Amino acid sequence: MIEIRDLVKSYGSGNSVVHALCGVDLNVAAGEVLMMMGPSGSGKTTLLSIMGCILRATSGSVKIDGLEVANLRENKLPEVRLKHFGFIFQGFNLFPALTARENVELALKLKGMSKKTAATLLEQVGLGDKLKSYPSDLSGGQKQRVAIARALAGDPPIILADEPTAALDSQSGLTVMEILSGLARERQRAVVVVTHDNRVLRFADRIVHIADGRVVDGELTEERAA
Ligand SMILES: Nc1ncnc2c1ncn2[C@@H]1O[C@H](COP(=O)(O)OP(=O)(O)OP(=O)(O)O)[C@@H](O)[C@H]1O
Ligand SMILES: [Mg+2]
Repeated sequence: MIEIRDLVKSYGSGNSVVHALCGVDLNVAAGEVLMMMGPSGSGKTTLLSIMGCILRATSGSVKIDGLEVANLRENKLPEVRLKHFGFIFQGFNLFPALTARENVELALKLKGMSKKTAATLLEQVGLGDKLKSYPSDLSGGQKQRVAIARALAGDPPIILADEPTAALDSQSGLTVMEILSGLARERQRAVVVVTHDNRVLRFADRIVHIADGRVVDGELTEERAA
């Protein structure tokens, strides 16, 4: 689903240049949960952002479902983003003035879809009884489930999540990861999760360690290797 080759990303130029990624090779398959770990500043968010066509590579190849996006014109990227990706962030990024249902409806509208499926998406993450609640009336775990429902708008094949459980208590974090791994297993989504959270590692099919802008290994978890 995602094929990355020799990916380089540098920020800035001249004396202030930062080499965030220095030759990354990585594949992500449909149906797998890939977790990315590594120290602060190692390049995880940069890599996730380039995968999701939010940020452009300095050089290298990025193929999304067979389409080379590294050379695509800037004005083609929003279309690729909307069609292929759902994004989930640590801070939820919900609109506080909109209800749970309206937050999901907005995402559907952006993708040119009927608003009608908003309730179904929220039911899918166990929030069928919170359609009219505002983010301020929801717990952290519930807010993150709204964010997942929103990411699922338009049925994207790839879900990218940057520290989705970092702001959550253990139980909510586990619920969020159960939903994400269910999407991979039952609906063949490719799910990429950046995490520092050891509690959620058991949901990984594969863990990739990033250090200083490089992939330092990528082993199968025991369960999968068996
Ligand atoms: N917009 C930017 N401009 C300049 N440098 C940046 C920018 N974004 C990130 N960097 C630098 O690139 C490197 C990688 O940053 P990145 O955010 O990808 O790390 P990370 O692994 O996600 O870290 P964390 O775990 O703290 O979120 C760091 O040295 C960072 O300072
Ligand atoms: Mg980061």
